[in-house]
Amino acid sequence: MPTEDATYTVLVTWTDLAEPGPSMLRDAGCDVVFLTETKDKAEVDKLLGTCEIDAVISRTIELDADALRSCPSLKVISKHGVGVNNIDVDAATALCIPVTNTPGANSQSVAELTLGLMITAARRIPWLHDHVKHGRWRRVQDGYQLGGQTLGLVGLGQVGRRVATAARALGMAVAVFDPAIAEDDAPPGVRVCGELTDVLRMANVLSLHVPLTDGTRGLIGREQIDLLPDGSIIVNTSRGPVIHEPALVDALRSGKLRAAGLDTTAIEPIRPDDPLLELENVFITPHIGGSTTASASAVAAAAAENLLAVLRGAAVQLDRQVNPEVFDARGRA
Ligand SMILES: NC(=O)c1ccc[n+]([C@@H]2O[C@H](COP(=O)([O-])OP(=O)(O)OC[C@H]3O[C@@H](n4cnc5c(N)ncnc54)[C@H](O)[C@@H]3O)[C@@H](O)[C@H]2O)c1
Repeated sequence: MPTEDATYTVLVTWTDLAEPGPSMLRDAGCDVVFLTETKDKAEVDKLLGTCEIDAVISRTIELDADALRSCPSLKVISKHGVGVNNIDVDAATALCIPVTNTPGANSQSVAELTLGLMITAARRIPWLHDHVKHGRWRRVQDGYQLGGQTLGLVGLGQVGRRVATAARALGMAVAVFDPAIAEDDAPPGVRVCGELTDVLRMANVLSLHVPLTDGTRGLIGREQIDLLPDGSIIVNTSRGPVIHEPALVDALRSGKLRAAGLDTTAIEPIRPDDPLLELENVFITPHIGGSTTASASAVAAAAAENLLAVLRGAAVQLDRQVNPEVFDARGRA
């Protein structure tokens, strides 16, 4: 429960928030309320409906229109992360509640995992590790060298850019499709293609860095995989449904694809009977691309900063405004 002498009451829709988030909020005179162990929507709904909450730091629990309408004191929703699909942004906008997010704060960590999955898929590191652990010293000679190959990127935003730069450093050619990116807006040495098919035709490694939208759901299906050179690798640290999974499984089984490295799957957690789990050429991590202590701190700090800016009537930078229609031209809500 909120205490009585705080200036503002901030609800974090999770059981914790990495430092320096809580310190920033408390230093600013806020009372910070966390969920109990339940981490469920019912608790969020109850707190919003019964307490004078001024601001929410939103993790993954849904904030629907009813919940927002039940809390007339609510002045800002600060998303901890980028994807706001758990928040009814239209309802927030209709209620003139500014919504902010934290683009870029975890991109370095996601980019690093992408590189990790790419190398893992190319060199089968977990498979070899398992063999060594079980007493088998198998010096297989079938590793795939990335230097000299072409990396195809779909999406050149915060993560894609970092992956592109790292891949160039490995000696890979990089080609990208992103309708929002002009030729001269790409990192040095990165070729911008006008069509997705152009990238697919040359991608020995294809890596996905797009948001999940109606336009990207199933973007990589059977037809797109067929265009890849034989023996390509697919890496996905964006969102599972961007790939049509049955097509991915078939291509991995047939050898059309050499391997895949996935941090996200269509259904999360992945089901124990998912065919992807039976394939030796698939390497999966449980959606932990952004899960480093550095990234948790950066995201928490950015979320607290956005929230305090709104409460203090200060400007929020444009790329952190999710519903710019409720901010003025100077970025104040
Ligand atoms: N695995 C994780 O833990 C993790 C963490 C953070 C983000 N992500 C995912 O990674 C994605 C990329 O993150 P980001 O920070 O780079 O996002 P971003 O918004 O900075 O960049 C996304 C880019 O995709 C482009 N794009 C949109 N639709 C496209 C399409 N149909 N074809 C080609 N390009 C298209 C956009 O123009 C934009 O440049 C996020 O949307 C999120 O789904 C995953």
